[in-house]
Amino acid sequence: MKKFFINTYGCQMNVHESEKLAGILYNRGYVAAKSNEDADIIILNTCCIRETAETRVLGNLGMIKKLKEKKPDLIVGICGCMPQKEGTAEYLRRRCPFIDIIIGTHNMHLFSQYLDEALAKRKVLDIWDSEGTIECSPIRRNSSVSAFVNIMYGCDNFCSYCIVPYVRGRERSRNFDEVVAEVRALVESGYKEITLLGQNVNSFMGGKPYFSKLLRALSVFDGEYRIKFMTSHPKDLSEDVVEAMASSDKLADYIHLPVQSGSDRILKLMNRKYTVKDYLSKIDLLRSYIPSIGISSDLMVGFPTETEEDYMCSERLIERVKYNNLFTFIYSRRSGTVADKMDGQIDLAEKTKRIERLIAKQFEIGNTLAQSYIGTTFRVLCDSFDGKTCFGKSSCDKSISFPGDQSNVGQFVNVKVTMAKNNKLIGEIV
Ligand code: SAH
Ligand code: SF4
Ligand code: F3S
Repeated sequence: MKKFFINTYGCQMNVHESEKLAGILYNRGYVAAKSNEDADIIILNTCCIRETAETRVLGNLGMIKKLKEKKPDLIVGICGCMPQKEGTAEYLRRRCPFIDIIIGTHNMHLFSQYLDEALAKRKVLDIWDSEGTIECSPIRRNSSVSAFVNIMYGCDNFCSYCIVPYVRGRERSRNFDEVVAEVRALVESGYKEITLLGQNVNSFMGGKPYFSKLLRALSVFDGEYRIKFMTSHPKDLSEDVVEAMASSDKLADYIHLPVQSGSDRILKLMNRKYTVKDYLSKIDLLRSYIPSIGISSDLMVGFPTETEEDYMCSERLIERVKYNNLFTFIYSRRSGTVADKMDGQIDLAEKTKRIERLIAKQFEIGNTLAQSYIGTTFRVLCDSFDGKTCFGKSSCDKSISFPGDQSNVGQFVNVKVTMAKNNKLIGEIV
């Protein structure tokens, strides 16, 4: 049986697109290989959000070139955001002639056709097709407990540092009823956690009030399950969404609300369209409706012209908000973006110092929070068992491990936190 291996480099949307590609390949009779070495088709589903993501892809291409030399019939495909970046597809075609298929983010639903071309020894290069939505069926999901569902594609926000609007195209939403039907089918087939995906879910179908309507429409199915969504842009998070979240226990008590910086001056340069005060008022709104809500965020250091004082504003902000979880990034120049042309780029040594300080600060905050949960009981969805320990998450997105067995996987259980070690919660079923 012919085998494929997909290397995934990006965000949850990228992970979900790998599941769609896997669906196409299974449908053609291929099965998953354990590694690149073991595969007849290798796909690199790429990301270009930061330079480090691209470096990983380019590094792996070196290794794949050697595999292809040993195995000339190997098919190598590259897709995702990287080939959509201006000049990159042509660069890859020139520098890596061993790649058979180069496609982007808008046309992976056509992968079966591209594969036929490649099997006939013809090279494929097809990027920037239309900006349609890319529905594929059947999807080969990585988990039988948690599932991703796309509700939107693309982004219109043009945050000045970000490449996504250039590589994913304009914002477009899926049909409301189609989303409801997909989620209903997933819940009916036993999925317990559904994450709705979009770069800016709050502007689903153009904005207010459609996203809250969607959330309400997704919270009426029978059985215990949880709906999460990602990502919310703070400027578009409205009270009707918060109200909807509070109105149903099927909607998780969790939000990822990227702040990016704690300095108004930097936020303006980032084109984020909110101030720290606006942001904090959304946090207060969320906590007034849902006191136990878990909040996570993305925060970047070293944006052009960021001073020590700007950086300290970010530290003060995380102290004020006390995030459950913080994803920290070093600003990475992306060609074609507005910020790349700004004066005052910060050198890497300084950016590295700042991120180390930020990580240490968040560790401290997380640790104090974790200690405060000792004795609390959470409703936990168990998503895995490693032979010794079960792992799962609470509605407010806290990760908790506890003794159990394989039969707990896919089940909701009440877990009382007994210990907090290095930010990690450990508990037992009660
Ligand atoms: N649409 C989402 C997430 C986009 S990318 C949102 O608006 O939040 C995920 C995160 O990567 C961003 O939130 C940002 O913190 C980070 N990021 C984006 N571009 C970056 C860049 N050029 N350098 C460093 N981090 C970046
Ligand atoms: Fe990038 Fe901003 Fe769009 Fe998020 S909202 S994808 S950070 S441009
Ligand atoms: Fe996601 Fe990376 Fe593209 S973060 S949208 S895969 S650039």
